Amino acid sequence: MEIYFISTILAGALILPLALKTCFPYLWTDLQYVGVFLRILFKYVAIRRRRPPFFALDRFLERSAALPDKPFIVFGDEAYTYADADRASNRIANALRSQRGYEAGVSAALFMGNEPGFLFTWLALAKLGSPVALLNYNIRSKSLLHCFNCCKAKVLIAAAELKEAVEDVLPSLMEQGVTVLLWAHRCDTPGIESFSDKVQAASDTALPPSLRSRVTLRSPAVYIYTSGTTGLPKAALVDQNRLLSALAVVSTYGVTSKDVVYVNLPLYHTAGFVVGFLGCIETGSTIVLKRKFSASQFWDDCRKYNVTVVQYIGEVMRYLCCTPKKDNDKDHKVRLAIGNGLRAEVWKEFLNRFGNIQILEFYASTEGNVGFLNYAGKMGAVGRVHFIHKKLFPYILVKYDTERDEPIRDASGLCVEALKGETGLLVSKITDIAPFVGYAENEEQTERKKLRNVLKKGDLYFNTGDLMRIDKDNFIYFQDRVGDTFRWKGENVATTEVSDILSMSDCLQEANVYGVQVPGHEGRVGMAAATLKRDAQFDGSKLHDHVVSYLPSYARPRFIRLQSAVEVTGTFKQMKVKLVEQGFDPEQIQEPLYILDDRVRSYVPLTAEIYRSILSGHVKLSRPVTSALSRKL
Ligand SMILES: *[C@@H]1O[C@H](CO)[C@@H](O)[C@H](O)[C@H]1NC(C)=O
Repeated sequence: MEIYFISTILAGALILPLALKTCFPYLWTDLQYVGVFLRILFKYVAIRRRRPPFFALDRFLERSAALPDKPFIVFGDEAYTYADADRASNRIANALRSQRGYEAGVSAALFMGNEPGFLFTWLALAKLGSPVALLNYNIRSKSLLHCFNCCKAKVLIAAAELKEAVEDVLPSLMEQGVTVLLWAHRCDTPGIESFSDKVQAASDTALPPSLRSRVTLRSPAVYIYTSGTTGLPKAALVDQNRLLSALAVVSTYGVTSKDVVYVNLPLYHTAGFVVGFLGCIETGSTIVLKRKFSASQFWDDCRKYNVTVVQYIGEVMRYLCCTPKKDNDKDHKVRLAIGNGLRAEVWKEFLNRFGNIQILEFYASTEGNVGFLNYAGKMGAVGRVHFIHKKLFPYILVKYDTERDEPIRDASGLCVEALKGETGLLVSKITDIAPFVGYAENEEQTERKKLRNVLKKGDLYFNTGDLMRIDKDNFIYFQDRVGDTFRWKGENVATTEVSDILSMSDCLQEANVYGVQVPGHEGRVGMAAATLKRDAQFDGSKLHDHVVSYLPSYARPRFIRLQSAVEVTGTFKQMKVKLVEQGFDPEQIQEPLYILDDRVRSYVPLTAEIYRSILSGHVKLSRPVTSALSRKL
């Protein structure tokens, strides 16, 4: 009897896990998720409880006190320890303090590419209690001024190589009394002061914490620019509280102080700055900083610097998979890749090719109030529905009308929840723990991201602008962005911004801008359906010059289609869906079609031959068209 009893228990103990695994295949994953989620919450609450108040900068100060000699930033052949970075930022801060026009606490704008100086300058400004606007170094003229102005900065600190771009907007800056500092030892342009010489001469003594005593959790820490749905870029206000919650999240990614993290994404974006830079401070790891992403140098860098963790966006992974195969593809120490936008097929190929690397895919946006983390490692998913997460951050997917570009509403005016397996717009309730801070100096755009009357009259949600799908196993997949933006080369392109610029040209009257998919290319390639000004001729080379001087390369429309009129909806929204479907096939489209050719610096007619070369992959749209064609011929 007893033996029977014991053997039943034994059998049960053996069968139980199996039974659980069959009936609840994701039980373990979900429990793990709860663990991680609780860890993030406890961590966040603990940081917020600290007295005196604790900010992201304090984590850096702790690290440099505890691990002064630990390598912090490696950049080419340069290497800086935590103590080096502390001293370098002290020098910058002391130089700034004695600078006319600067005062501790005023906002400053950074206009620099990826280099250690970017990070030191940010640390310096944080030590002085100044919010920092992280300007995209690709932007120029009108966009640059706009971005600078919306954060009310009193100081602009620019890299030497961006001098011309600064000179372009200098008259406006001088009019506003902005102090313009250039990372150079001398500068002859009136209105721009050299800064490197002053930093070199400054002392590296620590800054008194009293300089930042007015900083609170609600103070702006950084402004990060997002190409939202309409118009010029918007400055998302990232406050100190949000940086703390980001620190809590990145502390659970499994990165330790032994890791070497490869940061090759732009530091002016959230991925590079928050996940890359602040993430390394949080974990006390080493950053290998790269000026720009380079697919051909990626793995050599990883081998050279013993990189263990890499950061990605979907495009990066696809570019890596597109490089020629090599025998040493699996010869590296990379164990973890953190990022977002990795499609299932690229994910699979990446692992096949480069070995067993853990992929940590997440979904988050700079200004949004909901995020997901794909702990289960389910290929192609961004995360998983979990009731605890959903309870604290109530989000839903609502049915969306892509033609009218708005959520579908029922007879009583409320949104309709998308069913499992259906694509819907992700919206997330705005609450105290899931706040939406909004955009600096842009009430209208802030308001546009809010959605009311979603499930109940009078409720208020944040509209992510992202279309998602939840499958029957509760995994969440990113599908697309709605209407007014598309992604190309890892950047969001705001179609209305491009359309404004096009209609400022000599020959175009109006332009409807959208992205079209091209086989073999991640994201969407920019295209415009435009009308000519009365009595104007299409001038491809003039239009090229206009586009190049106003738009960063990723935002320049590659294809132009001339129409006699731009189609609009009843509410005067431009119709895009049909145009997107028609694409850029000259055999299908009777109207004149042009393609941007960088080499001849013009928009040239898009012939059937060019079209076929694009489809066959002979012409890569990230390269000049004629050079690719002539290589082929
Ligand atoms: C990388 O690791 C190898 C072996 O552990 C070591 O010999 C080499 O010095 C390391 N390189 C760097 C740049 O740390």
